[in-house]
Amino acid sequence: MKFTLEAKDTGSKARAGAVETDHGTILTPIFMPVGTAGSVKAVHQRELKEDIKAQIILGNTYHLYLRPGLGTLEKAGGLHKFNGWDKPILTDSGGYQVYSLSGTRKIKEEGVTFKSHIDGSKHVFTPEGVMDIQRTIGADIIMAFDECTPYPCEYSYACESMEMTHRWLKRCCTRFDETEGKYGYSQTLFPIVQGSVYKDLRKKSAETIASYEREGNAIGGLSVGEPAEDMYEMTELVCDILPADKPRYLMGVGTPANILECIALGVDMFDCVMPTRNARNGMLFTTEGIVNIRNEKWKDDFSPLDAGLGGYVSTFYSKAYLRHLINSKEILGAQIASVHNLSFYLWLVGEARQQIISGTFYGWKEKMVKKLMQRL
Ligand code: GUN
Repeated sequence: MKFTLEAKDTGSKARAGAVETDHGTILTPIFMPVGTAGSVKAVHQRELKEDIKAQIILGNTYHLYLRPGLGTLEKAGGLHKFNGWDKPILTDSGGYQVYSLSGTRKIKEEGVTFKSHIDGSKHVFTPEGVMDIQRTIGADIIMAFDECTPYPCEYSYACESMEMTHRWLKRCCTRFDETEGKYGYSQTLFPIVQGSVYKDLRKKSAETIASYEREGNAIGGLSVGEPAEDMYEMTELVCDILPADKPRYLMGVGTPANILECIALGVDMFDCVMPTRNARNGMLFTTEGIVNIRNEKWKDDFSPLDAGLGGYVSTFYSKAYLRHLINSKEILGAQIASVHNLSFYLWLVGEARQQIISGTFYGWKEKMVKKLMQRL
């Protein structure tokens, strides 16, 4: 993997860059649609590529390991071959899902024992095992195994957890470096900064993670319920420590406004379930602000979903029609809303990139954040 910095904003810490992988180049800043179980919910691969213009998608180790399982993924020749997405893929390590999804779990130094949310069967994730699993899934970028602390979190727990995440990172790197990709292309490992909302812990974690000199770095443990101001403060502190010549990935963030604010602090990569999950509940992100399409207000509004965005679904379908589909729980409603929201997120980061290159990002961001938070 290679990262090239192309431009830096003058009024903020925003950057424009390019990440080269064996499955193609990702232009940053970028948003990565979440494809938990090997599919971005309600969205075809062709729509992802041609309408949404996604450049990289996410998969989850936890889900893919449980179902379809490693046997099938290996026989398929990896996740790219299995789901037909031939551009870059990033897999999260399970360091988040194992805590949020599996009911009973035990965290020990060796690893985490958990019960499957599907059939209650018992499993163990260790740093080494999670590297092997992600080798088999075959993502271009794989994540270290970590513990994502909840919010709020006592200082002593956050500190011990962070230290364990650091020890786990050492084990991840050792295993990753002594193994190879299984399918003829290279993979890279990103470590994850933790430390909850404590400045001294975040500083220590960022310095530790930077010292591993991997090809990219991630920030975890944020957007877990803390005030946005805390998230921005931690993100800025960590970005200032992580090396400038490597991509920075802020995990699980966020709203359109969160993304623009964190681009301004030096983040290059984002993922979040929000555009797809909220789409299925009728919440649309548009160039004019937020639309709750279930609202009576849109009943007879035959204007396009978002004329300002362009793109097929956003201009072809009307608000009134989508309202009808979502209120009637028609599957097509979820499909249209998901393609629209993801198109908006990809448009937003693409615009941000152009504004950074033109040196006009900061003023544009200030204006956009106000507009995008409006409820229409
Ligand atoms: N997704 C969102 N936050 C996190 C995190 O802290 N760790 C991992 N592994 N995934 C995440």
